[in-house]
Amino acid sequence: MKCWKKICQKVVVLNYGNGVKKIKIFDTTLRDGEQSPGATMSIEEKVMVARQLEKMGVDIIEAGFPVSSQKDFEGVQKIAKEINECEVCALSRCSKSDIDSAWNAIKKAKKPRIHVFLATSDIHLNHKLNISKEEAIMRIRESVSYAKSLCSNIEFSAEDATRTEISFLKMALNEAVKSGANTINIPDSVGYAQPKEYGEIIQAISSNPVFDEVTISVHCHDDLGLAVANSLSGIKNGAGQVECTVNGIGERAGNAALEEIVMAINTRKDYYPFETKINPKEIISSSKMVSDATKIFVQKNKAVVGANAFAHEAGIHQHGMIANPLCYEIINAESMGTETKLVIGRHSGKHAIISFMEKKSIPVNDTTIANAINAVKNSEKNEDIEQAIINACSTGVSNNARI
Ligand code: KIV
Ligand code: ZN
Repeated sequence: MKCWKKICQKVVVLNYGNGVKKIKIFDTTLRDGEQSPGATMSIEEKVMVARQLEKMGVDIIEAGFPVSSQKDFEGVQKIAKEINECEVCALSRCSKSDIDSAWNAIKKAKKPRIHVFLATSDIHLNHKLNISKEEAIMRIRESVSYAKSLCSNIEFSAEDATRTEISFLKMALNEAVKSGANTINIPDSVGYAQPKEYGEIIQAISSNPVFDEVTISVHCHDDLGLAVANSLSGIKNGAGQVECTVNGIGERAGNAALEEIVMAINTRKDYYPFETKINPKEIISSSKMVSDATKIFVQKNKAVVGANAFAHEAGIHQHGMIANPLCYEIINAESMGTETKLVIGRHSGKHAIISFMEKKSIPVNDTTIANAINAVKNSEKNEDIEQAIINACSTGVSNNARI
């Protein structure tokens, strides 16, 4: 049975004091995100993105994998020196030289964290690492203990956790905790898990008293388009940290998108009794900065940060938006520092066209309305429709148009 004293202590640690559980945002745009093919950033760009992540309010910045290259090392080192509020984290395999490199890169940080990982699934143990389960446990013990001797803040990740036999996963995580890990991460490294299933794995770990004193973290990849759904399911089932990237960039199909997780929590407070420290007004500028630095463009219809996320063209939708934005927008555009756009196009209706005319101070009467509607409905692909309305209304000739 769970010890009540421990449960109460845990609640005190995780809550802001208002009864709402605080979820830590661990941003890995500069590590897992930068591992996206072709996304390599210069050191200056990485430092600029790190500053923006800090401004946006992330709790932890995973700045890179220092042993992977001298440039990565220098980038992490620079970020560690520049960042004040966030924890700065460096990734390391379970090897002494990796851990030394990670520590040397972040030791000047105000709040350093070493992130040690080892794969735990049979497929990785047998085919990639060629080691037994006993050897894996020994490596976890030695590496986490060694990292702990250098840095008080240690995260351990069981790579490919979702394809790991649950009893062995618990054993590996328990070994990491006994050796000093403060955070245990359960990655869906290949985006294989389904939301209910992933939630059950997190529940099986979070409900185990052995893990009461540590933060449970989720890290999901998007191979089946489920990274955000899986992450949210993990949070619902007891995780206190979510690992994510701006625009969802990352290995292969990417990681869970920070903006989608944060806005799901903010928008559905009734369903997710949690809060993060992210300032939604900084999300769109972060998205643009990461897109520019990585040259990975954001699709127009991308949730939350796509150019069309707050744009409406269909007549019925525009009418609803004019009547009350709640009709078709669940996220308040202003809360994100942006605005709703009523785009005039062939699908637009009378209400939006009149609203556009009023905005442009075009006289609104039966003739101008008819001319404007006619110009819109007969517009050609790629035509500047707004200019066409202005031209049509200035001719003064009446046209009969459908609505
Ligand atoms: O996807 C993954 O398993 C990782 C680990 C290194 C945490 O990125
Ligand atoms: Zn990953």
